[in-house]
Amino acid sequence: TMEFSLRPRYLAEYIGQKQIKDNLKIFIEAAKMRSEALDHVLLYGPPGLGKTTLSMIIANELGVNLRTTSGPAIERPGDLAAILTGLGEGDVLFIDEIHRLPRSVEEVLYPAMEDYALDIVIGKGPGAKSVRLDLPPFTLVGATTRAGMLSAPLRDRFGVVSRLEYYTVQELAYIVLRAAELFDVEIRGEGAEEIARRSRGTPRIANRLLKRVRDFAQVQGDGIITNVVAQEALERIQVDRLGLDDIDHKLLFAIMDLFRGGPVGLDTLSATISEEATTIEDVCEPYLMQIGFLQRTPRGRIVTPHAYQYFGREMPEI
Ligand code: ADE
Repeated sequence: TMEFSLRPRYLAEYIGQKQIKDNLKIFIEAAKMRSEALDHVLLYGPPGLGKTTLSMIIANELGVNLRTTSGPAIERPGDLAAILTGLGEGDVLFIDEIHRLPRSVEEVLYPAMEDYALDIVIGKGPGAKSVRLDLPPFTLVGATTRAGMLSAPLRDRFGVVSRLEYYTVQELAYIVLRAAELFDVEIRGEGAEEIARRSRGTPRIANRLLKRVRDFAQVQGDGIITNVVAQEALERIQVDRLGLDDIDHKLLFAIMDLFRGGPVGLDTLSATISEEATTIEDVCEPYLMQIGFLQRTPRGRIVTPHAYQYFGREMPEI
C-alpha cells in the first residue's frame, strides 16, 4: 500500500526520536563490527510513533531478514517455536503488542532470548523429558504501548529499552513535507505546519490528515495545500486546533458535564462514552495528559483548568 512506501527505510531518513536514533546507530554498528546479533530491543510508547517502522529500519541497517508478528497472534508455545526455528542467523523478530503474549509462550521466550535455545518437553507426567535445541543468534524487537504491562522477567531480558516520545510540530511538519513529496502533491510550508499542529504529536496521524487535506485541495481547490486549505479541510473532518477529535471531545465533555470535572474512574468513563477502556488509556489519555488537559489521580480522571479554558467554560464551584 501507499502507507508502506511512506515509511523511511534507513535511520538517516527517519525524522525525530533523535536520542533513540543516535543510540541505535551505535549499537547497530557495534554489533556489525563484532559480527554478532544486535541485543534485544524494547520499544514502548503511544501508538503511531514509529515502533514498527523502527523495527524495519533496524533489520535493514543490520542487513538481515525481518519476521513480523504480534503478541495475540502467538497463541501457543508451538506457534513461537515454529517462528523461532525459522529464523536465520542474526535475523530480527518483531513482536508487536508484546504485552499480550500468553504466559505459556512468554516462558518459551526466556531461554530463546537469553541463550538462543528452545526447550522442548517430550512426553507427559513423570516420564517427560526436556531437550534443548539451539537457535541461531537473533534480535527480538518488542513493541508495546505500555512498558508497565510487561512482566518483570520479560522486560529484564531486553538489552536496549527505548521510550518513543511525541514528535514536535517542526518534526511533524518535516514528515508531512516528505510525505507530500512522495505523494507528488504541492504543499506550502505553512500548510504542512497546520497539519503538523493538529496531528497530536503522531506521524501516523499526520500522514492520514495529509491525505484528507489533499482530497479537499484537489476537489475544491487548485491542488495546492496552503494553510487555509489545510485549516478548512481539518475543520470539516472535525480535527480541532490542537488535533483533538470526536473521541477526545466526548471524553472531556463527559467528565466536565456529567462528573463535574472528575474524578471519575476509567470503567465508568468507558461505559459512559461507549469506548473501550484500553483505547481511552492507550490512545486518548496520553496525549490529553501531555497537553495538560487531563490528570490521572488515584481516585480517577480529572479535567484541568487548562481544558476548561480551551473550551471557554467556567470551572464548577467546589
Ligand atoms: N513517516 C512516518 N514516520 C516518519 C519518521 N519518523 N520519519 C520520516 N518519515 C516518517
